Amino acid sequence: MTGRGAALLAIVAAGVVAARADSSESDAGRVVYEQRCAACHGASGAGDGPAAAAMEPHPRNLRDADFWRGRTVSQLRQVVRDGKPGTLMAPFGGALSDAEIDAVVAFLQSFRPSGQ
Ligand code: HEC
Repeated sequence: MTGRGAALLAIVAAGVVAARADSSESDAGRVVYEQRCAACHGASGAGDGPAAAAMEPHPRNLRDADFWRGRTVSQLRQVVRDGKPGTLMAPFGGALSDAEIDAVVAFLQSFRPSGQ
């Protein structure tokens, strides 16, 4: 196994342990994000995942202050559950439980620039 693979496994394992220990919702959300969202939205949320370049429109840069202006938790929950028509943002309502959707939405807040 490469060093990078081992590091990634360690991160995922840490997330699972944290989730089991019922630590913050955001830690559980990080695991969901890495498994389901990062390929498109990028590990750091910048919209630059390996699959992003071929997409039109590109996945959002979730670190952009403009994206967060006026954005509510219920809007985020809805777009993750129902997807965004006309884009490759798929509905995750069938794949993720409500608790997982809440957790990943909580994790998205960690991309929010301070002051927004
Ligand atoms: C197959 C690639 C892909 C995956 C996987 C993906 N997204 Fe997206 N996402 C997109 C694209 C493309 C858009 C549309 C960009 C736009 O219109 O600005 C988008 C848009 C969004 C938006 C902004 C929607 C809005 O209101 O404009 C959010 C939030 C989001 N995704 C969250 C997530 C989360 C959370 C996950 C994982 C559960 C995820 N995405 C998985 C491609 C993806």
